[in-house]
Amino acid sequence: LNYNVNRERRYILQVLFNGLRRLEYRGYDSAGISIDDYFSVSRNPDTPQPSSINSLSSSPLVFRQEGNIESLVKSVYQGLVVELMVVLVLSEVAATELNLEESFTTHAGIAHTRWATHGVPAPRNSHPQTSGSGNDFLVVHNGVITNYEVLKETLVRHGFTFESETDTEVIPKLAKFVFDKANEEGDQTVTFSQVVLEVMRHLEGAYALIFKSRHYPNELIACKRGSPLLLGVKELNDDVCNGSAFHDAKFLSKNGNPKELFLSSDANAIIEHTKKVLVIEDGEVVHLKLFLICISSSSSSSSSSSFQFDPKFAISFYPTPFLKHEGGVSILKFNNDKGRNGDSLSARPASVQRALSILEMEVEQINKGKYKHYMQKEIHEQPESLTTTMRGRLLRGGSCKAKTVLLGGLKDHLKTIRRSRRIVFIGCGTSYNAALAARPILEELSGVPVTMEIASDLLDRQGPIYREDTAVFVSQSGETADTLLALEYTLENGALCVGITNTVGSVIARNTHCGVHINAGCEIGVASTKAYTSQIVVMAMLALAIGGDTISKQERREAIIDGLFDLPNKIREVLKLDQEMKDLAKLLIAEQSLLVFGRGYNYATALEGALKVKEVALMHSEGILAGEMKHGPLALVDENLPIVVIATHDACFSKQQSVIQQLRARKGRLIVMCSKGDAASVCPGGGCRVIEVPQVEDCLQPVVNIVPFQLLAYHLTVLRGYNVDQPRNLAKSVTTQ
Ligand code: G6P
Repeated sequence: LNYNVNRERRYILQVLFNGLRRLEYRGYDSAGISIDDYFSVSRNPDTPQPSSINSLSSSPLVFRQEGNIESLVKSVYQGLVVELMVVLVLSEVAATELNLEESFTTHAGIAHTRWATHGVPAPRNSHPQTSGSGNDFLVVHNGVITNYEVLKETLVRHGFTFESETDTEVIPKLAKFVFDKANEEGDQTVTFSQVVLEVMRHLEGAYALIFKSRHYPNELIACKRGSPLLLGVKELNDDVCNGSAFHDAKFLSKNGNPKELFLSSDANAIIEHTKKVLVIEDGEVVHLKLFLICISSSSSSSSSSSFQFDPKFAISFYPTPFLKHEGGVSILKFNNDKGRNGDSLSARPASVQRALSILEMEVEQINKGKYKHYMQKEIHEQPESLTTTMRGRLLRGGSCKAKTVLLGGLKDHLKTIRRSRRIVFIGCGTSYNAALAARPILEELSGVPVTMEIASDLLDRQGPIYREDTAVFVSQSGETADTLLALEYTLENGALCVGITNTVGSVIARNTHCGVHINAGCEIGVASTKAYTSQIVVMAMLALAIGGDTISKQERREAIIDGLFDLPNKIREVLKLDQEMKDLAKLLIAEQSLLVFGRGYNYATALEGALKVKEVALMHSEGILAGEMKHGPLALVDENLPIVVIATHDACFSKQQSVIQQLRARKGRLIVMCSKGDAASVCPGGGCRVIEVPQVEDCLQPVVNIVPFQLLAYHLTVLRGYNVDQPRNLAKSVTTQ
């Protein structure tokens, strides 16, 4: 048996499994993978193929498993052992005719980790979804196909049977239908990209797709509309090729540089291989043809004529002679035009030229380092993430001695924003809470009315948006489906759209008119922590920038800027509460419920603190506007239900003191968060548990106050034995509605 083949395949599997591990935070209820079968891998076209190879040729292997990635890994290796035994027998038949080392060149694989939308987590609903037995076409999909029911009905009428409850299954079946039809009509030359372009013509909804097919064994096609997709390009040099990882597997093209290509919905899966990426745009179809092994490995250090990896140059992907033999990449633009015969199979798609970008992230950022969990790491790295968020944006002293804020991505739009009829914050989950925390300071400094919209609610109501509005889209990932749809809706209504996101190149970053990156670094824990605090800081800077330089507010502005400079230190200080919050978690471990009362700047802290506890510790928890206490929540108060009251020092302090009195009068079991030194005034006579936090400028206090809640939620979850980074039923990026 040829060991090179197995080494290569093992390498492909390792790349895919590691990629899935990096993406697991996006969905983790089931996973799947498809790799070439032993005899269906690409072959050197220059080598005459023995006839027996066709009889031995089989379809790509597919493994799908419910549960996490490690259960998939296990099932794949078990499956491959069985296959290996079959191959051992078959190879005896074929060995005389095949030079395996030349025949088996490179492999392509696709893999997917799922967060169930249509259909329960089960192998049949996992991806790759297939066109049926034989695996003629296989598809992995991120997004949702909204017209799948209609497509399914049509395909059923044409004799297809469906085995899953997914929307995705229509896609490979449609590809098979298109391919078979073309062949029945005598078109033996239909290309893989033509098939996919025709499939795209029928799909509605949001998707990033990768196709693999038995009919095109050394090709992959990816395409997208709405959902994110990246192409990573890695050039291999001699050292790498001769290094241990590759050893005998020489991924060399005959007359160019060796290359490895990666497609992923997220940079995390690519970064350990390459930083050179192409952000695929909506409507683009990427056609990868795999490279051949150069057996006589004379690798060249010069770039091939058809590839330029220097990001300063545009790359011409298509048409290129490179495609003919050694493989390559072509990018086509989908347009809905029909060709001569009334279908897109005969339409000639436009080719695309674009430059590569360089990812600004490091592999270390996506490792846990000295921490046990990502959430723990991300909570503790907030002093650094906030520093990065503010870097280069706050100016203090210097020749003009002015304290000011510079947000490069907004500078050309500040005048328009100041003249807006209103500013509308739009987001979901934690991002919405961050915007809520920033709302008061934006109103105060800008004088413009600020309204809040949960993205799905705006869409449900089709709420009014005007040309004179400025809409600020807050999204860590930049790809939350509801927020994206709200962006589309807002763009249609003519408002100025500002994006605040942590993901460079995300849809929100690209489709808004202007914006600010929060630069918090990659966040992997599903429960958002450092992104939340960085979002608030960016929005405080946004308020300062919009507020301009009015004399009457100068003192206030300068106090906020000083407060921002000092914020990382204050966060270091509040993080020292770690043990105290662990002790509190021990006390609350068996509770059913937790209420959190806040108001003013810290209404958002109450909502976000409760959300943290709810989403990871799986404990019912509710954030309540303290001003509403008497209108219902007071009925719940007794000596058993734990209640946190946020009463740090700001304009609402005396009102919160009064809330505490009323709760105590009803024997409430209180935990009070207050500014350092205020314990006696918030809880005269004792009787409550007090959490003292460092005091900062009022509008920055939510950044400090949320940290004890993050620590509490973290410890509660670990103590209760739940998965803190991947809470039940949740996903980091909710890319479906
Ligand atoms: C999901 C995540 C939350 C996040 C929300 C909005 O629910 O679990 O952590 O706050 O989506 O995501 P976005 O990427 O738009 O900030």
